[in-house]
Amino acid sequence: MAERAAKTLVIRGGRVVDGEAGAAPRRADVAIEGGAIVAVGEGLSVPAGARVLDAGGCVVGPGLVDLHAHLRQPGAEEAETVESASRAAALGGYTAVVAMPNTEPAIDSAEMVRAVLGLGRAAPCEVAVAGAITVGRAGERLAPMAELAALGVVLFTDDGRGVQDGALLRRALDYARGLGVTLAEHCEDEAIAAGGVMHEGEWSGRLGLPGAPAAAEEAMLGRDLALVRATGAPMHFLHLSTAGSVELVRRAKRDGLPVTAEVTPHHLVLDDAEVAAYDPVFRVNPPLRTRADMAALWEGLADGTIDAVATDHAPHPPEAKDQPFDQAPPGMLGLETALAVVAGALAGAEKDGDGTLGPVAGRLSLPGLWWDMSVAPAAIARLGPLDLRPGGHSAQGGPVAPGAAANLCVFDPAASWTVDPGALASRSANTPYRGRTLVGRVRHTVLRGEPVVVDAAAQG
Ligand code: DOR
Repeated sequence: MAERAAKTLVIRGGRVVDGEAGAAPRRADVAIEGGAIVAVGEGLSVPAGARVLDAGGCVVGPGLVDLHAHLRQPGAEEAETVESASRAAALGGYTAVVAMPNTEPAIDSAEMVRAVLGLGRAAPCEVAVAGAITVGRAGERLAPMAELAALGVVLFTDDGRGVQDGALLRRALDYARGLGVTLAEHCEDEAIAAGGVMHEGEWSGRLGLPGAPAAAEEAMLGRDLALVRATGAPMHFLHLSTAGSVELVRRAKRDGLPVTAEVTPHHLVLDDAEVAAYDPVFRVNPPLRTRADMAALWEGLADGTIDAVATDHAPHPPEAKDQPFDQAPPGMLGLETALAVVAGALAGAEKDGDGTLGPVAGRLSLPGLWWDMSVAPAAIARLGPLDLRPGGHSAQGGPVAPGAAANLCVFDPAASWTVDPGALASRSANTPYRGRTLVGRVRHTVLRGEPVVVDAAAQG
């Protein structure tokens, strides 16, 4: 009994959420043994010798799942490694991330898939891999998708670039349908976006910087939706950023097309006016848009047009990023701040005088965020089924119920902290929230029953 108790972990005194829209959090302790949840209920007795994590004042939900993280290994280890990114992920409450394939070399072969999955095996969060659609992400020849799918790859993307050749994409969709995998598109028509370094609009005009218009995203999205209609293959749309994109996906879903979409925290809370001081930390692709676009993205999240919040965590080391705005590479950190940024925006909605979030306040809730940041992304990336063997894929996305894998995020919505780039786990420092005080912080993260973050500190 003593030995059994020693292996018991109890998360005590929190409010449990499962991600179901409208479901109220309920007061409950969560007991864990052998990597799985064994009991959920108020006032659970704690066996002698059990480890207890205090969750007073906190929300206890399924571990977050990120559909979109650039881990940079191999090829850009000065920016990030699987180890540093997964530590950042765990600190951000993530128990699974999908690694993007724009590494060097790209993840376009079985060998590369095995290598990155191998690096992820020791990580403090589960690391799944997206494969490239085309060889070297060059947009010319299809990658050996069947070979990659046989290794469990279910998402394919050339992210960082969209597939410019519509005929090639159509062929990829046909293969994807046959293989039962999903293509994830970075919607950007490079001819329309050509040379743009920020959103084309009032601010690009004022600042004298070349702009990429909303149409660059919407033109490719419209083409892709037509191809989804033609092939019947499912498609996921990465980091949508414009009001027009939200409307296109809304109509496609109304028509029954098998599509899903994500938005990043930064496109929800930052607009193109941030570029006013030419600080390269705000250069990102797709670019920060207008407040009207932000309002439409929140509305899309509230009405289910947008399924998931994904970070697009894109580390760049100071020597690359600290350059004149138009020469800096696009991308910003996201894993450690995502939940605090989105939950904090929701909590502050009543105070939001400018209207980007006002209209959806009350329809989006903190518990509901677990749908967008855990349940839905786990379903899109098809993470699971439950497999508790060492190195095996554990079930992600909940529920918080007996028998489920103990992948959990314990979040304190009242804790405030000031973002210090030097204190983040990432090897890079390009957070757009530098010096900002965020309200809400991940307190504990549990992966397969093991606490990997305790009191906001990484373990081990
Ligand atoms: O800003 C971005 N950075 N957008 C992308 O699509 C790619 C990413 C990166 O890899 O740096």
